[in-house]
This record gives sequence, C-alpha cells and structure tokens, in this order.
Amino acid sequence: MRVLVIGSGGREHALVWKLAQSKDIDKVYSAPGNGGICDIAECADIKAEDIDGLLDLAVRQKVELTVVGPEAPLARGIVDKFNAKGIRIFGPTKAAAQIESSKVFMKSLMKKYNIPTADFEVFTSSAPAKDYIKGLKRKFVVKADGLAAGKGVVVCATKEEGLAAIDAIMDKKIFKDAGNKVIIEECLEGEEASIIAVTDGEDAVPLSSAQDHKRIYDGDKGPNTGGMGAYSPAPVVSDDALGGIMKDVIDPTIDAMLKEGIQYKGVLYAGLMLTKSGPKVLEFNCRFGDPETQAVLPRLKDDLVDLIDASIDDEIDLLSLQWDTRPCVSVVVASGGYPGEYKTGFEIEGLEGLKRLKDVHVFHAGTKKTGDRIVTSGGRVLNVTALGSDIKDAIDKCYNAVNLIEFEGMHFRRDIGYRALKRT
Ligand code: AMP
Ligand code: GLY
Repeated sequence: MRVLVIGSGGREHALVWKLAQSKDIDKVYSAPGNGGICDIAECADIKAEDIDGLLDLAVRQKVELTVVGPEAPLARGIVDKFNAKGIRIFGPTKAAAQIESSKVFMKSLMKKYNIPTADFEVFTSSAPAKDYIKGLKRKFVVKADGLAAGKGVVVCATKEEGLAAIDAIMDKKIFKDAGNKVIIEECLEGEEASIIAVTDGEDAVPLSSAQDHKRIYDGDKGPNTGGMGAYSPAPVVSDDALGGIMKDVIDPTIDAMLKEGIQYKGVLYAGLMLTKSGPKVLEFNCRFGDPETQAVLPRLKDDLVDLIDASIDDEIDLLSLQWDTRPCVSVVVASGGYPGEYKTGFEIEGLEGLKRLKDVHVFHAGTKKTGDRIVTSGGRVLNVTALGSDIKDAIDKCYNAVNLIEFEGMHFRRDIGYRALKRT
C-alpha cells in the first residue's frame, strides 16, 4: 500500500517512521516533509494547507491512505474533499474538526452535554469583555475562539493582563478573524495530562497517556511554546484515572457530537487539567499531539495501520492495543530565540552518531537537507527521544544523546520528565 503523511514536524516524522514499519505499507510519501522524513519517505514540496495540490499528489501517486498531521488542513475540510473523490483518508471532517477550530463550539458542546470543563463566558465584542474582566475577583484565562497556532490562550494573573489580551485579540486583531469571539474562563489548578484517543465515531480507544512541557524554560517558566518535550506514560494518569477520563470526557464527547449530527472519526486529543474535583477539559485537538506523539508512538507495539483502518472502517471496538511498558522521553532541541524570533540555516552536527544508539530515535521537526548537510529551518528543530528501563534511565539516555548534537544557538529544557521523576 502507498501512504501519504501530511505535515513537516516531529509528529509527522514519528508518524512516517511508525507507518514505514507497517506490514501493509510499501511506500510512504510526505508533503512537505523535512530533512529527517526525506530519509524514509519521498517528500513532495506541497504545503499542508494546499488541499488541491495534495489531492493532485494523492491521485497522481495512487495513494491508498492519507494521514493528516496538523489541524489546519482538517479545519479547512481536507477529509471532506478526499472523501468526495473516494480517496481513503484518516481524520475528522471539517464539521467535526470544529472541536479544535472553534473554542466557542467546543465549550458550548461541553456545557450542553455536561462534560467537565472550566466555567466560561463568550464575548463577541471587546467592551463587554473588558467590563466582565473588571468585575472578576480571581485568576482567569482569555482564549481566542479560532486557530492561533497555540498562541491564542493567555493565563491572566491580573486584570491589566486580561484587558491587554482583549485589546490585542479583539481590537488589534493579532489573530485576525480567529479573534472575532473570545472565551473568558476560570483558571483551573492541578496537573495537566494529554489523552490521545482514536475513534470511529462510536467507540474510542485511548493511546497511552502523555505529558507535554509547554513553557520555554525549566520549571515551567516563561512563555508558552508549541511544546518543549514530552514523556509517556504520565504516572499521574493511573489505569483507573484513564478509565474515568474515557467514561466522563472522551466517550460523552463523541456521543455529544453524534447527537449534534456529526460523526467524529480520527484522533480526539484531550488536554486535561486533573483537578481536585476530577479531570476537566482545557482543550480538544482534532489530531495527534505534538510533541506527545513522539513519546507515545515508540511505545506502541501494534501496527499503526491497523489502528487507522479500525477508525475508518468502524471497528475500534474490536481493537486492543499493546504497549511497551518502558517509559519514553522526548526532548525538543530548539533554535536560539524560539518561541520569539530566531535565525535558521545552521548546520546540525552529531546526527550520524545518534543513529548507532540503542532505543534512541531522533525525530526531525524544523530541518532541511541541503546536499548532504542537515540544516535548521524552524523554531523547534529536533525531538531527541529515548526509551529507558525506568523514567530516570529514559531521561539519562535522552540527554546523553542530546549532548552529542550541536548547532549554533541551540537550546533545550534540561528538566523534561521531572514530574514523573518526582513521583518515583
Ligand atoms: P490550550 O491551548 O487551551 O490548551 O491552552 C494552553 C495552555 O494554557 C494549557 O496547556 C494550560 O497550561 C493553560 N490553560 C488553558 N486553559 C486554562 C485554564 N482554564 N486554567 C488554567 N490553565 C489553562
Ligand atoms: N502538545 C499540544 C498540542 O499538540 O497541541
């Protein structure tokens, strides 16, 4: 079978790597791919948002299965378009992807069907939003309604921060139409965890749990990023807790979508706050998490194609997934300056040496190949990933590997996995 993976990040490299091991797959294409993906897949220089270009590619190369990495093409209806042409694709339709592309849609669904999430109000203009903030007594969170590349959420400790956020999102329109509406919600306390489930629209199966590290600096300080590292499993999510999350969050959400006339197929990712009164939804994503996927897939023993087929063919209930019990840690190595401005084009050295390390995988994100050199081309550059006999071993192996890599300005967090380590 010929498969196409859309996207160019570490998540997509992990998906390509895992799919390339499938008994069913002879050839993997990737669009646009990156410097690491091109080693195992044929890369086509077509952007992830160019749905017509991707459709052409799939037809031309007789692709039999398409897997979508990022949210943007899903939110623009890539699944509807491929389905209309009879091309097999894994993921939610445009209507279903609203669970990520509109926070107002998502929060209203949660409220209507009593799915646990932070209390919130919706605003469609800035003056009432600002008045509301002036009356608040506790910490709160401002969220732009639409997709803002992970930057549309501001956790506010003061009213001034909240007023500035409304100003930027609604008046200055820094996220354009994604800021036509905002949510203002209560600030939840607890530990965060990511649960990635795969569903056929009726039944769902969870992947092993994971935890992301969103802030740029050690100790979860500084601004939010796309994610600076992840590990799996997250010890805070016991088997009982996972059962509770499926029963109280994932299953009711899929049912709620069906009641709204939308069959949700594909990946349903829940970003959760584990509060004293149970898990509450911070966000839903309609795709695999990044960087969680890089820490989860190396632990999956099953063929990823079987899981994807079960979602498309309504057979999730027949599936039971097997996991490597060893923990996996993935550290993001970023460009100097990220998540702010950064320079690219620096040669990355040391990658060859890492290929010889057992249980270590390097998933590329912002890299490209020029001749036989690999150079940086993005903010998050590499995901150095290791499996270990326990969390400490995985962390040690991972950082020993990171220390072999060098490029100008590189930086990374030195405490990925610290919460799991503290629990042992
Ligand atoms: P989101 O993109 O909605 O997941 O938000 C990004 C990050 O902001 C989350 O991972 C949390 O760390 C934080 N966050 C979002 N909503 C809340 C909330 N209601 N309470 C506390 N923190 C939040
Ligand atoms: N790791 C957070 C996300 O994928 O949105």
